[in-house]
Amino acid sequence: MSIVVFGSINMDLVVRTPRLPAPGETLTGHTFFTAPGGKGANQAVACARLGAPTRMVGRVGDDLFGEQLRASLRTAGVQDDGVLTAPGPSGVALIAVDDAAENTIVIVPGANGAVGGDDISRLEQALDGARVLLLQLEVPMAMVVAAARAARARGVTVMLDPAPALPLPDELWALTDILTPNESEAAALTGIPVRDEQSAAAAARALLARGVRTVIIKLGARGALVADTDNTRMWPAFTVTPVDTVAAGDAFNGGLATALSEGRSFEEAIRWGLAAGALSVTKPGAQPSMPDRRELLELLGVRG
Ligand code: RIB
Repeated sequence: MSIVVFGSINMDLVVRTPRLPAPGETLTGHTFFTAPGGKGANQAVACARLGAPTRMVGRVGDDLFGEQLRASLRTAGVQDDGVLTAPGPSGVALIAVDDAAENTIVIVPGANGAVGGDDISRLEQALDGARVLLLQLEVPMAMVVAAARAARARGVTVMLDPAPALPLPDELWALTDILTPNESEAAALTGIPVRDEQSAAAAARALLARGVRTVIIKLGARGALVADTDNTRMWPAFTVTPVDTVAAGDAFNGGLATALSEGRSFEEAIRWGLAAGALSVTKPGAQPSMPDRRELLELLGVRG
């Protein structure tokens, strides 16, 4: 497999609401739906739909959601033989999306919280011949570090999405080739409020100083700031009409990883990430919003 994803698999329980509720407030929403999600599984689906041979390593519960989550991975073309069905509930995410397409998310880890040493053994097998490992922070931190170590030992590129924002252990910084926070995660990791290009560049420098090789700060409709020790560059976003921004960051990582796994240049890979992220916000739901290769190439061609 070109790409291996080690991470979370959730069922998203989504309400569309006029605005996000304030603490203590009861609001009447417009609609409710469930959709397969989880940052790990979303990134795997994004890669597979864009054409990359992709394997998922993680856990679902032995409930109805677990079966549906596995089916969604398979339908997208993700190899799910690295996914264990464990006793107990699957991970879930409670998501509110408002009329401006903004969202809030609360996750309950379920099976993701039990990811452990057995999963690292399956990951090690999956990494043979892989080019890129995608990580996020919805499974236990010690396992994220073990996964990054396993990838580094095999020369596999480690891409870490530090979401949800948590303090990172010292070892993980140096094991990370590409770190992809959004603005709030970059701010949480550095203590620098990220409001514009200048503050994003300052946060990127602080992250590079911890030992990461490349930092990409995802800035939503403003694009992405990309920095390594030699250069800092702002990349504009593709302009689209947003419907639902859930999993836009996952789509970005999927696009970036797919392009890199195909040996494309880093610049081209950034554009693939931006295009995948833009397309994903035009549709509701996490995994259902991931674009396929034809849609992505069309956007790149038309606005190239
Ligand atoms: O990044 C979006 C994802 O975050 C959702 O699908 C939800 O499951 C949470 O993991």
